[in-house]
Amino acid sequence: MLDTDDWSLEEIETVLDQTRAMVEILSRPIRRAPALRGRTVILFFAEVSTRTRVSFELAAKALSADVVNITATGSSVEKGESLLDTVRTLQALGGDVVVMRHSSSGAPYFVAQRTESAVINAGDGWHAHPTQGLLDAYTLRDALGELGGKRVVIVGDILHSRVARSDINTLVPLGARVTLSGPPTLVPAAWRCGQLPAGVTYEPLLDRALDGADAVIALRLQRERQESGLLPSLREYSRVWGLSLDRVGRMRPGAPVMHPGPMNEGIEIDAAVAHGSRSLIETQVTNGVAVRMALLYLLAGASTPSGVPAAAAPLEERG
Ligand code: CP
Repeated sequence: MLDTDDWSLEEIETVLDQTRAMVEILSRPIRRAPALRGRTVILFFAEVSTRTRVSFELAAKALSADVVNITATGSSVEKGESLLDTVRTLQALGGDVVVMRHSSSGAPYFVAQRTESAVINAGDGWHAHPTQGLLDAYTLRDALGELGGKRVVIVGDILHSRVARSDINTLVPLGARVTLSGPPTLVPAAWRCGQLPAGVTYEPLLDRALDGADAVIALRLQRERQESGLLPSLREYSRVWGLSLDRVGRMRPGAPVMHPGPMNEGIEIDAAVAHGSRSLIETQVTNGVAVRMALLYLLAGASTPSGVPAAAAPLEERG
């Protein structure tokens, strides 16, 4: 599960439907199903993470898998062990699924080609964060209903954002129209020159982008991935591109605000918006567990006696 860029609508719908079944499991007094009993999920995070790593761990444990955590810090990567040797070690340890985050775009592809384990991309460089795209789609559809014709603004550091790419890959097939907004220096050159993916437009004026929008997703300003000189100053960025209460008031009444986290509060989003009545930011985090349960189940549990309900079955028929 390396990217959603080649997924069909049916594949996206399958994960979202399975996620709803997992939400039901998580609402039970005992939030556990035996679907992955006897399976081992290795969380290999070579780049920092809070939400993705913890939600994968909770998801795997909710499905009764054994979970092993490896981070670059504190592992033999610090002694110079290569990615290839690390992968061979994970294979020898018997991981059925390797969930991987890495600062290099393409690293999960490298691993997937060299291991028998299923590999899930938990974010690679600027390239993709497919599970974030799926949880954002699930959260938006839960809030807005069917996304056909809905207009979703994605604002901020588009250039360095794997989330923006993965959100486009899931929202557009579901029928949403995506408006990108952000400083021209932080938008891929081809995109700001009009060579955009189908269903996507670029509007450099944020106020105009937000007028009448159905939802907005603010992106983190990724200072760790930026060259100098892309922005005049953080204060200027916040003034022109930050989500304030006034700005979000330009959207449809009640239109939700999302952010993948972690946030730079006061830079790309004001605290009053991040924690205000329109915010779905904590809901995104919560939904991350169910989406990742669905993916783990579909990848590693579907052919085993599972105890997990089929997404399509009525609730009362589910285990
Ligand atoms: N959204 C996201 O990927 O957050 P983490 O970096 O905390 O995992």
